[in-house]
Amino acid sequence: MIRLHVTKTVVVLGLSCMAASIASAQTAPTGEQLFKQRCQACHTIAPGAKGMMGPNLAGIVGAKAGSSAYAYSPALKGSGITWDKQKLDQYLAGPSKMIPGVRMPMSVPDAAQRQAIIAFLAAHS
Ligand code: HEC
Repeated sequence: MIRLHVTKTVVVLGLSCMAASIASAQTAPTGEQLFKQRCQACHTIAPGAKGMMGPNLAGIVGAKAGSSAYAYSPALKGSGITWDKQKLDQYLAGPSKMIPGVRMPMSVPDAAQRQAIIAFLAAHS
């Protein structure tokens, strides 16, 4: 009897741990978390802060490409793009596919993650 009881408890504990880890795996990271993980090494979003390895992204939605105080590549500076959500989506999916010669060495292949990041950028624009 005692042994049976212990086994049941272990099974119940095991199942609830599994449920907890499945639930956390399904919770998508927020745009802010993604920005911190994927963008913040090179970009700041704080208005007026100096650009780092990449330009400051405060107010980027609606801004002309290459308009922050930063030493842009001629490719980005001369792109003639005005950043809207759709253009940012295309850019983040493949920066150098959209603007050959751009110096941003990473992309965000996951469409849902791009949307979350762009919503975060828009909230700071
Ligand atoms: C390894 C550094 C690095 C990372 C990480 C990075 N970027 Fe960039 N990004 C750059 C550089 C460098 C430029 C300027 C490129 C140029 O001048 O050709 C840039 C330019 C941009 C621009 C154009 C800015 C303007 O003023 O026109 C946007 C928008 C942008 N990045 C968004 C992002 C987002 C969103 C992320 C995160 C998903 C990200 N970047 C991650 C380095 C990076």
